[in-house]
Amino acid sequence: MRIEEFGDRWRRTHRCGEVSERDDGSRVVLAGWVKRVRELGGLTFLDLWDRTGVVQLVVEAAEADLHELFHSLRAEDVIACDGIVRRRPAEMVNEGMKTGGIEVVAGSAAVLNRSEVPPFTVTSEVQANEDLRLRYRYLDLRREPLQRNLAMRHELALAARRFLSREGFLEIETPLLVRRTPEGARDYLVPSRLQQGKFYALPQSPQLYKQILMVAGFDRYFQLARCLRDEDLRADRQPEHTQIDIEMSFITEEDVFGLVERLMADVWEAAAGVELSLPFPRIDYADAMNLYGSDKPDLRFGLEIRDCGEAFRGTSFGVFRSALERGGVVRGIAFEGGASFSRSRIAELEAVVKGAGAGGLVWVKCEESAVSSPISKFLDEGAIRRLREILCAPGPSLILLVCGEEAVVAKSLGELRLHIGRAHLVGPSDGRRFLWVNRFPLFARAENGGWEPAHHIFSMPLESDIPRLDDDPGAVRGHLYDLVCNGTELGSGSVRVHRRELQERLFEIIGISREEARARFGFLLEAFQYGAPPHGGIALGVDRIAMLMGGGSSIRDYIAFPKTASATSLMEGAPSEVEPELLDELGIRIVKKPERADTSG
Ligand code: AMO
Repeated sequence: MRIEEFGDRWRRTHRCGEVSERDDGSRVVLAGWVKRVRELGGLTFLDLWDRTGVVQLVVEAAEADLHELFHSLRAEDVIACDGIVRRRPAEMVNEGMKTGGIEVVAGSAAVLNRSEVPPFTVTSEVQANEDLRLRYRYLDLRREPLQRNLAMRHELALAARRFLSREGFLEIETPLLVRRTPEGARDYLVPSRLQQGKFYALPQSPQLYKQILMVAGFDRYFQLARCLRDEDLRADRQPEHTQIDIEMSFITEEDVFGLVERLMADVWEAAAGVELSLPFPRIDYADAMNLYGSDKPDLRFGLEIRDCGEAFRGTSFGVFRSALERGGVVRGIAFEGGASFSRSRIAELEAVVKGAGAGGLVWVKCEESAVSSPISKFLDEGAIRRLREILCAPGPSLILLVCGEEAVVAKSLGELRLHIGRAHLVGPSDGRRFLWVNRFPLFARAENGGWEPAHHIFSMPLESDIPRLDDDPGAVRGHLYDLVCNGTELGSGSVRVHRRELQERLFEIIGISREEARARFGFLLEAFQYGAPPHGGIALGVDRIAMLMGGGSSIRDYIAFPKTASATSLMEGAPSEVEPELLDELGIRIVKKPERADTSG
């Protein structure tokens, strides 16, 4: 088969999805990928695809050469074709296809390139496993869902840029080769050739630069920033991600909330045609933990967690009694649909709470006519009535109770709530439930028994909590907030510290001495001394927003070239070894870790 060079002769007049009834009778030139060739009643039909859609080419009976050419083609070959548009007869109109009202009667065609037989069929629904699709990502990306996802992501980014520009924000690029200033995850390091033995880090976020831009008077900054973090990966985490990174001067957290709500409403409308209802509810971190056992609650369903200790005061059920005596809690949820659950389904629920660290699950099944429970001999009528009142469960329901240390109970019931809610209470069309979670604690316990920042160390404590910085850092809350949607953290930010003394005090609490702070963050502390305005901001995860907009379950489907769970790129094979000369130039020698002794035999 002759492969033709591309030239003016084959310059497209339309893209495949753009040909319509309006072009009836016109000559068009099209180019794209072959999807399907079939024969019907002496005619040959070919589906030609490009990212705008599929158009049907038809070869009339008399065109023997074209018949032969079309029948020699394989899926994913690249061709160009000219022909005359004609309306399809009424009975041939395909309503499900953008160009279903027309077809193009082929006049001549050229093969521009051939395709090997693809390792999987490039169709919307694909059978191939994800590794194979990532290895041949260019074929995977040709599939309609991925084409749609990336086009939507483009609209999202465009809408965000337009909105923020309208609001007076400037997009300013910050460096990719930065000083190592860890922000929770491990850094990717880049060796310096010119200064051997020294390393740049790739930024985990533009955090310090955006704060310095505020000191520089830019007032309202944003950037669609690439952030790089060497962390363990999950469905919603990649080593590289993109943030809509925002910083503003002379603001309170309410200003950030208002701006981000309008930004979300704008981009959701522009990229997904969905109207969001504003404002988003706000909930304190402490309340979120108590009611939902999570700092990123999924509000598409109720199943609120309630403290049921009161119903068991003085109980003779030893497990609850001793938990309460030891200062623990008894908490529970009521699930209406669970009243008919079998023992084995309840056992599945028990596995969920045990997996989250709880000792066990106590259930009380309230059916129309009877109440059953493994602890029924400890439950008098009064206790059952009180339980149903506390859990707002007057009708049939399955009451699920966990006792123990407060944090463990919250976590296990939080996971149980998610498990039940997602399996039984939400459908794919149950919309998006946004909320703000704020007033997070500023510090969390570190593994070494000291303190570490709960978010990052640049966040402002609540004024009322500042006196507790010295004696009880764990109780200090910050002007720290997360934007959450359907149980996913979409964004995170804070009002920042903008005075040197306070910043140094916070460093000290997490074990960074003044000297060390000066060595690592001296440039920021110094900048604070030259008229740093009060400021704050947020970063919103673009990949996660796109995933939620598109109704997907993995951010990999919204990133053109994602990495696998072991942070490799299967297409080009990254990371890779490099030539010894390159390492010499950098003054780096690889010391292989000794193989672990084989203890299996
Ligand atoms: P944070 O680290 O919380 O905050 O990140 C902000 C948002 O970015 C997204 N995100 C990720 N998305 C995909 N893969 C990842 N590995 C990943 N890590 C984070 C999430 C998250 O909510 N400098 C601060 C922001 C600030 O305080 O202004 C920061 O980066 O959606």
